[in-house]
Amino acid sequence: MIIIINLKTYQQGKAVIKLAKKIQKVNNKIIIGAQASDIYELAKQTKLKIFAEHVDPYEPGRYTGFIIPEAVKKDGAIGTFLNHSEHKLDFKTIKKTLKRCKQIKLKTAIFVKNLKEAKKIEKLKPDYLIYEPPELVAGKISVSNAKPEIIEKIAKKLKMKFLVGAGIKTKEDIKTSKKLGASGIAVSSAITKAKDPEKSLKNLIE
Ligand code: G3P
Repeated sequence: MIIIINLKTYQQGKAVIKLAKKIQKVNNKIIIGAQASDIYELAKQTKLKIFAEHVDPYEPGRYTGFIIPEAVKKDGAIGTFLNHSEHKLDFKTIKKTLKRCKQIKLKTAIFVKNLKEAKKIEKLKPDYLIYEPPELVAGKISVSNAKPEIIEKIAKKLKMKFLVGAGIKTKEDIKTSKKLGASGIAVSSAITKAKDPEKSLKNLIE
């Protein structure tokens, strides 16, 4: 099972490094999604696989304030998220950004909100495709409990492997997701907002 922990923007600076070290202690194969400003330190201080939470499609040059693929790669990220429901992009931008990422060999994990979007994005051949129904993100009900039929449909209709996320909290959520056809999960609040993230992560994945 591929496990992605999206750190989102819950914490900043040293607190992010502290949390990442706890994650690494439980399992150092986990992929974390990090804010661009934290990537350099995370790469220096942990062995986790780091994905930026977003990049823009621009090249080195006059693009004040944008986050370019080269920047996160040089800081130590191996990939980037695109099109998370908290950072939606239009299709043209996704396509353009993905092309730039491929040029510099930065992996991509693209979020989709339904089967229709999944089919469209699959054609772009990202490294990972993640199904997350936006209304379930950070909520009480998990994607595996609320949308089993859609996960199954995605498994049937897509050729590529995919992950699922939103509201994942328990071992059972992971088991069910796998059974329904997902190759991995993306999780955030169950770990990032936990009183004891190490314990919560152990309970979730071990
Ligand atoms: O990318 C993962 C994320 O959106 C899921 O969030 O808090 O529902 O686990 P959460």
